[in-house]
Amino acid sequence: MNQHHEPFPTDRPAVVTCGLPYANGDLHIGHLRGNLSADVFARALEKLGQQTVYVCGSDMHGTPIAVEAEKHDVPPEEFALRYHEQYRETFERFGIDFDNYGHTHEPTNIELTQEIVRTLEEEGYVVEKPIQVAWDPIEDQPLPDRYVEGTCPYCGETARGDECDEGCGRHLEPGEIEEPTSVITGNPAEYRTREHEFFRLSELQEYLQAFIDRLEGTDNAKRQPREWIEGELKDWCITRDLDWGIDYPDEETDLVLYVWVDAPIEYVAATKAYTECVGADAYDWERVWKDDGEIVHVIGPDIIQHHSVFWPAMLRAAGYTEPRAVMASGFVTLNGAGFSTSRNRAVWAREYLDEGFDPDLLRYYITTHSGLQQDLDFSWDRFQERVNSELVGTLGNFLYRSLLFAHRNYEGTPDTPCPQPVTERIETALQAFEAAVNDYSVRGIGSVPVELARFGNEYIQRNEPWKLTDEDPDRAAAVIRGCVQLAKAIAVLLEPTAPGAAARLWSQLNEDGSVHDATLETALAAPTARFEEPTELFEPIEDERVETLAQRLDDRQAQPEDGGDGIDAETALEPPADERINFEEFQALDLRVGRITAAEPIEGADKLLELAVDIGHETRQVVAGLRQLHDVEDLPGTRVVLLANLEKAELFGVESDGMVLAAGEQADLLTTHGETPPGTTIK
Ligand code: MSP
Ligand code: ZN
Repeated sequence: MNQHHEPFPTDRPAVVTCGLPYANGDLHIGHLRGNLSADVFARALEKLGQQTVYVCGSDMHGTPIAVEAEKHDVPPEEFALRYHEQYRETFERFGIDFDNYGHTHEPTNIELTQEIVRTLEEEGYVVEKPIQVAWDPIEDQPLPDRYVEGTCPYCGETARGDECDEGCGRHLEPGEIEEPTSVITGNPAEYRTREHEFFRLSELQEYLQAFIDRLEGTDNAKRQPREWIEGELKDWCITRDLDWGIDYPDEETDLVLYVWVDAPIEYVAATKAYTECVGADAYDWERVWKDDGEIVHVIGPDIIQHHSVFWPAMLRAAGYTEPRAVMASGFVTLNGAGFSTSRNRAVWAREYLDEGFDPDLLRYYITTHSGLQQDLDFSWDRFQERVNSELVGTLGNFLYRSLLFAHRNYEGTPDTPCPQPVTERIETALQAFEAAVNDYSVRGIGSVPVELARFGNEYIQRNEPWKLTDEDPDRAAAVIRGCVQLAKAIAVLLEPTAPGAAARLWSQLNEDGSVHDATLETALAAPTARFEEPTELFEPIEDERVETLAQRLDDRQAQPEDGGDGIDAETALEPPADERINFEEFQALDLRVGRITAAEPIEGADKLLELAVDIGHETRQVVAGLRQLHDVEDLPGTRVVLLANLEKAELFGVESDGMVLAAGEQADLLTTHGETPPGTTIK
């Protein structure tokens, strides 16, 4: 293996990946930072002529999904698939151009994961050992990973079972967390001994020490891992006591694989699925992953250990190719504090789109705001400032004024050679672009076209072609010819960062084909002779708009912060739905006043009650998730609102014929103020 990699572009196939989002909640712009940066990077590699495929997928397994699905009383697969579909759509709307977006529960990944684990076993990298696992003694169930919370043994902060997410950020092994309690029931947990499978990480210490020196990407992806690798490398537990996940490939056990085994394997599986689509002649996943592919992982700061230590060790042990680079971003924060999904302290991906903003604006802001490794403190003010000054002011302004002038005076590109200083400036830009890719600088990639437009503005200002049209028409034509060349180069160089705007500009220039396929050389190729009057490429963002958005974000952050995840979901106020329904749609709901006449717990379902609800004509049997939130004995006699014409459903073998309405996470029951008799229609 080379100690030093050849610069990009190489003649080997590349694969770029980004961290797989857990399919357990809405995406926010913190998630997007990785997806967008990787998209920019992959598109930029293609611009250099590097054969590149960009893959990702939803992370469907593990306790992040199991716990949320359980809270929502939905089977984990169904729960995760809903988010999976939503993510796919959201990514597309942001112009994130995955060659394949799969998920970890697909057969390709399940099979490949089991195959790799079998190889690890055969190669002697797996040992079985008894360990202490957290257990809920009252429910008699194991509490893997996020099912427990407690104290981090390293830093003393509150942590969840597998990760010290609010303290030192370490990965925690089963049995490590102190004072564990169950996240689901709140019961104090105890430790019980169970046999588990371990990956012998320590065997790979020497390999990892050399690997980390070869690894390219951002410094943060190497700095801490180097310390970890130099220290004692503990064996890594790769199984869990859980139903949801990929079965450990050994009939004898009922364990599933730890989510962090099958999740990165999806990078490989998604590439494999891509090859199955296009054919191995077009792109060969085996060459990439088992031979000489250029593998680049883009991730957030919280999963560095997984990508710079565990994953390369696994690849090595299984005989796969090691990553060339890991690019780890900093966090996206709000007023310096982390995003919190459960507390609605976030800017949501769909919220941005629903505001009607051009996705390219956020792409530009997020990927060029600061170096990738720096934290990015989001604010609508700064977003506006960057958009208005750089995209509208510098870039849009140059393009509009020069192309308008070109169209009006020459019906397009003046018929004269491009002036030498302009050609040279474009050549410098191309070099800067190539250098930015080789520096893994996503910000550098996005800055190049804006800098070129800045040059363009100075150039046009300095040469004042509007004064020259009469005095020196040849000179005027040459200047405008230079400007059109700059515009064409800008389109090519802007494409990775702002693909939508670049495509609009490309068609304004009346160029053939798609700017996505145009490689760097195209920047210097002669522009099309004729084009129409241009339109403005970007719209400025109004102050009022930003004030409203900033206010909304402040209000969200002013919400009280106390309480655990489940409880403060109540304060996570969703904005009212934008989509309206008409009166008939409302009338289709048969809402009735009801009175609970009986309430019984349902065996085996710790949250559900079977209710009898009197609605005048009849008494309905209804299943409701009220068991932990209300005293069962107090319920009979309570007046409620019943949705009477909801489809029947069966929960834990009990038929539910209607739904009792309640507000918030505490299931505050809706009722009437007066004494309207049961059965009365509500309208
Ligand atoms: N499923 C794992 C990753 C498996 S990769 C084989 C996971 N999922 S996640 O949903 O929690 O995060 C998905 C990606 O978004 C990760 O790269 C994570 O680092 C990134 N981010 C999530 N929140 C973030 C911020 N607030 N800021 C920056 N990146 C963040 O981890
Ligand atoms: Zn800690």
